[in-house]
Amino acid sequence: MKYLVIYSSETGNTKKLANTIGESLGNNFDIAHVSMAPEPFSYDVLFVGYRLTSGSIDDNLKEYLSSIRGKKIFLFGTMGANPSSPYGGIIKKNIQNIFEQNNTVIGHFLCQGQISNGIMDKWFNLLEKTPDDLHALKQLENYKSALKHPNENDMLELRNLLIQCL
Ligand SMILES: Cc1cc2nc3c(=O)[nH]c(=O)nc-3n(C[C@H](O)[C@H](O)[C@H](O)COP(=O)(O)O)c2cc1C
Repeated sequence: MKYLVIYSSETGNTKKLANTIGESLGNNFDIAHVSMAPEPFSYDVLFVGYRLTSGSIDDNLKEYLSSIRGKKIFLFGTMGANPSSPYGGIIKKNIQNIFEQNNTVIGHFLCQGQISNGIMDKWFNLLEKTPDDLHALKQLENYKSALKHPNENDMLELRNLLIQCL
């Protein structure tokens, strides 16, 4: 079996998952950021990592995806929101649908990843003016929780899912 791990990651969260997958695969794999990814044709299983951006995968990954046909894919990703929330569930399903159009998804792992400060600025600013704004407070709570991810427990869950899927 020949494996390819590719990932899209801007602030490093998804890259951490990619490295954990690489460590679990032994020797027979290549790993690359999607911008430097080799052609997928000669690989038996692809591990494809996404960072959620504006509710979907980013353009680099979309472009790479168009070159993948008839492959077994293990999906993994990180998002700022809680993946166990109703929003997280919808996102996970939507992304899986994108990949399943021409391929078979053999596993899908999604966890929270810490959010860069710039994204939170509008909520921090709003809270300075209106400290009781419920939506902003919820965003702040989520931001604090995301700071702890991905963590060792996420990596353990990822490794366990890999064992089940391979
Ligand atoms: C421009 C931008 C858009 C984002 N959009 C979303 C989003 O729609 N939903 C969400 O839950 N998280 C969103 N996030 C948070 C990222 O998905 C999260 O921080 C992720 O772990 C980043 O992965 P990376 O470190 O591998 O780049 C966004 C982050 C950025 C920078």
